[in-house]
Amino acid sequence: QQFDFGMIGLGVMGRNLLLNMADHGFKVIGFDKDEQKTTAFEKAATTGTTVKGVSNLKAMTDGLSLPRRIMMLVPAGKPVDDVIESLLPLVQPGDIIIDGGNSHYTDTLRRVQYLAEKGIHFMGVGVSGGEQGARTGPSIMPGGDQEAYPHVQPMLEAISAKFKGEPCVAHLGKGAAGHYVKMVHNGIEYAIMQLICEAYDLLHRGAGLSNDELHQTFDAWNKGELQSFLIEITAAIFKQKDDKTNNYLVDMILDKAGAKGTGKWTSQDAMDIGVPIPTIDMAVTMRNISALKSERTNSAALFAHSITPVTTDKATFVQQVHDALFFGILISYTQGLAMLHRASTELDMQIPMPSVVRVWRAGCIIRSTLLDLFTNIYDQNPQLENLLLDKQIANMLKGKEAGMRAVAATAVTNRFPAGALLNALTYFDAYTSAQLPINLLQAQRDYFGAHTYQRIDQPGSFHTEWNQ
Ligand code: 6PG
Repeated sequence: QQFDFGMIGLGVMGRNLLLNMADHGFKVIGFDKDEQKTTAFEKAATTGTTVKGVSNLKAMTDGLSLPRRIMMLVPAGKPVDDVIESLLPLVQPGDIIIDGGNSHYTDTLRRVQYLAEKGIHFMGVGVSGGEQGARTGPSIMPGGDQEAYPHVQPMLEAISAKFKGEPCVAHLGKGAAGHYVKMVHNGIEYAIMQLICEAYDLLHRGAGLSNDELHQTFDAWNKGELQSFLIEITAAIFKQKDDKTNNYLVDMILDKAGAKGTGKWTSQDAMDIGVPIPTIDMAVTMRNISALKSERTNSAALFAHSITPVTTDKATFVQQVHDALFFGILISYTQGLAMLHRASTELDMQIPMPSVVRVWRAGCIIRSTLLDLFTNIYDQNPQLENLLLDKQIANMLKGKEAGMRAVAATAVTNRFPAGALLNALTYFDAYTSAQLPINLLQAQRDYFGAHTYQRIDQPGSFHTEWNQ
């Protein structure tokens, strides 16, 4: 039996991706050290598909047709290097190894080079959509090796989500571009999730909406211009009851977030290449603040203040929050996409922006109706630096600006920690200001450090002996 595709790691993602591939007619073999997982994997296969689980790596590599196509879905970091080392004696030049996890792009670049020296193709591929997406159609973000890509393209296209019949997978650039695009996808994901949480806080503790009303509100929003996967699942969450207490489950969950690192990496790399993405930064920061639960509890007692209820008429406020959320979400995409545009040249990744927004239209966590609009915009202008420079986007934001400012004002006055919303507005105000007070900052730098400044009336750089 010659298998078409092998998977290392039969955790939920690996298993589901492989079952998805088998459903599309490919013969698949999966490896996991844990025999329970290999058995469960075989059991879960659709009748009539060719699916095998093994707990011996050589049995997997020996069973694969050439060139071998092997994907790994293991935790990022050392496990990926360990898998590579264990595979090396079992593969041969021309074989293709794919890392489908959330690896840091610099690790991917290192691995590409390391394996290229041995004649082995290594591709970093972003996969988004969670468990369900992996089984029924994820958004897939491959990058790197152009020679290897055609060998895996048919499989990736078959298993990917489809947007109006078009597969949500495309080659997204050189080197580690696949993992880079996925990293920024996750940065945007962090920002949108935080924005939704802030909207929830304002509506729930601020305007007193019950979980039932929140469900109805988000459900209605999901039928309009906010239509997206994250709004959809948020609506569903407000309906879920806790088995143990019969309370609403959302009310039983501790307000303390974890993170696996991709959001932080997005912020770190944005700083490195000098791209402002403050809404994403703030989303990472808010998760970090949430983790300080005991410190927050102590300081809350010390300051003895709390949020104050919102007095705006309920229906008006719900509409304002809708507009503010839309505004914030649009700005989050704007920041992430501007970062990808810059990384494309700065890190020599040659990222095709129209393809990025295309593959995000279905399957991934940040899919929304907006992505179809972005596709039209980037198709017309693939080199667009920032969505805020597009007329259609400008008009959309103008329509939501009043709501956004009203909510920002309420959040500040009533003590809501709505950092992502406020940051989105600040970014907008700064990016759309021809004049910033940074002339003074340049003067300060020149004053104490002779850092020089440019003038508005003539070219060149200038220094002044300020303290005379
Ligand atoms: C996806 C998700 C997925 C995961 C991330 C974020 O696109 O399917 O982004 O990859 O949810 O790892 O996880 P954290 O919130 O734990 O960082």
